[in-house]
Amino acid sequence: MNDLAGKHIVLGLSGGIACYKSAELCRGLSKAGATVQVVMTEAARQFITPVTLQALSNRPVYGSRDVSGFDAREPNGMPHINLSREADAILIAPCSADFMVKLAQGAADDLLSLMCLARPIQSVPLLLAPAMNREMWAHPATQRNMAQLAADGAILLGVGNGFQACGETGDGRMLEPAELLEDLIAFFQPKSLAGQRVLVTAGPTFEAMDPIRGITNHSSGKMGFAIARAAREAGAEVTLVAGPVSLPTPRGVCRVDVRSARDMLEAVVASADSATVFVATAAVADWRPATPSDQKIKKDGSGQPPVLHFTENPDILHTVAQGERARSGRLFCVGFAAESHDLVNHAQAKRERKGVPLLVGNIGPLAFGQDDNEMLLVDAQGVHPLPRAPKLQLARQLIAEIARRTRATA
Ligand code: C5P
Repeated sequence: MNDLAGKHIVLGLSGGIACYKSAELCRGLSKAGATVQVVMTEAARQFITPVTLQALSNRPVYGSRDVSGFDAREPNGMPHINLSREADAILIAPCSADFMVKLAQGAADDLLSLMCLARPIQSVPLLLAPAMNREMWAHPATQRNMAQLAADGAILLGVGNGFQACGETGDGRMLEPAELLEDLIAFFQPKSLAGQRVLVTAGPTFEAMDPIRGITNHSSGKMGFAIARAAREAGAEVTLVAGPVSLPTPRGVCRVDVRSARDMLEAVVASADSATVFVATAAVADWRPATPSDQKIKKDGSGQPPVLHFTENPDILHTVAQGERARSGRLFCVGFAAESHDLVNHAQAKRERKGVPLLVGNIGPLAFGQDDNEMLLVDAQGVHPLPRAPKLQLARQLIAEIARRTRATA
C-alpha cells in the first residue's frame, strides 16, 4: 500500500552499526510511496557509504564536511534551510547517544544537527530512532537527554531489545526497518480515537474434541489485526484478543492469545470494563464438543465413527452488548457478519439480534484469508457499502466511522 504517498521524508543517519539497517528503511520508505532525502553525518559514513543510500533514495546524499553547513550546489547555499522546509518529517535512524546530546544542546556543527535546529518546529516533526549499547542506553545522561528531547517536541520511537553488535544483550537496538516504517505510517494517520480504549477480537476459536483434534472456523485474523492496527494508528490504546493465528502483533497493541470461545469470553470480559469501543471480528465457533476426551479418540476397528455431542458456546458480542457499560452508552459495540448470500437482509437482522449500533457485513468466501475485502456497514439509518480495498484501508475507514459515531454520542 502507498501509505506514505505524497510525503517527503528527510532520513538522517548518525554514526552507529545500525546504519546498515537504514538502507532497508530507506527502501521501505520509497516503496511506501515517500520521497526520501538522506542526510548523513561524518560518523555515519564510517558505517555505510552514501553511494548505497543515493541509489536507494534516487537522490544525492547530503552531509557536508563543511562545518558551516553552506553548500555551493544549492542556489542559496543553505541546505539546512531548504532540506528542512521541504520535509513532512525528519527521521533520524539511527540516532546515536552522541547525536542526542547535540540535539538536546541545540548544537549545529554538522549539516544534520544544523538542519534539525533550523527546522520549523511547529510544522516539521522530528522523529528519533535511538540505537546504542545497552549501558549507554540505560545511562542517566542518555535518559536525561531523551527526556529533554521529548520535552522539546521530538518524538522518541523507542528501542528494541536483544542481541547487540557488541556481544551484549539488552535494550538499545534500533527498531527494525519494518517497525520504524509502521511507526512512521501511524504517525501520519489522523488521531480520531485519541483517548479511547479499543478492544478487538480476531481470528477463529478452536474447540477441542481431544488433545489432538478439534473444530474451528475459517478465519485468518487479518481483518481483526488490521482493525487493531488502525485503531492504534488513530491514537487509541488497543487490546487485541486473538484466537489461534500466526500473524505478527501490530505495533503498540497489547495482545492476549486465546484458544476456545470460553477463553475468549474470559479475556474480553476482563478488558471490556475499561474499554470504550468493542469490535468483535473473531469467527467464534458456535458450538463446542460437550465432553472433550482427555485422550486421543482412536479408531476402534468397528468402522463406526465416534458420536460427538455439542453444546452451544457463549455469544461474546451479545454478552458484552447486553452489559451495563454498553447499554449506558459508555461502550460502543461493533459486530461482524460473514454471510454467503443476501448480505443486506442477514446483516440487518443480525445487527438487531446482537443489539449493536453498528454491524459490518461481508461475504465470507470473498474475504477469508484474502488481503482485501469489501464491506457493508449497517446501522439504524441504513446500509453503506465500502468498496473492495486492502483490509488495512477498510479498517481505517471503519475506525473513522466509529470515531464519528462515538463523537456524536459523547
Ligand atoms: O452469530 P454470528 O456468529 O454470525 O455473529 C457474528 C458476530 O458475533 C461477530 O462479530 C462475532 O465476532 C460475534 N460472535 C461472538 N460470539 C459468538 C459468536 C459470534 O462474539 N459465540
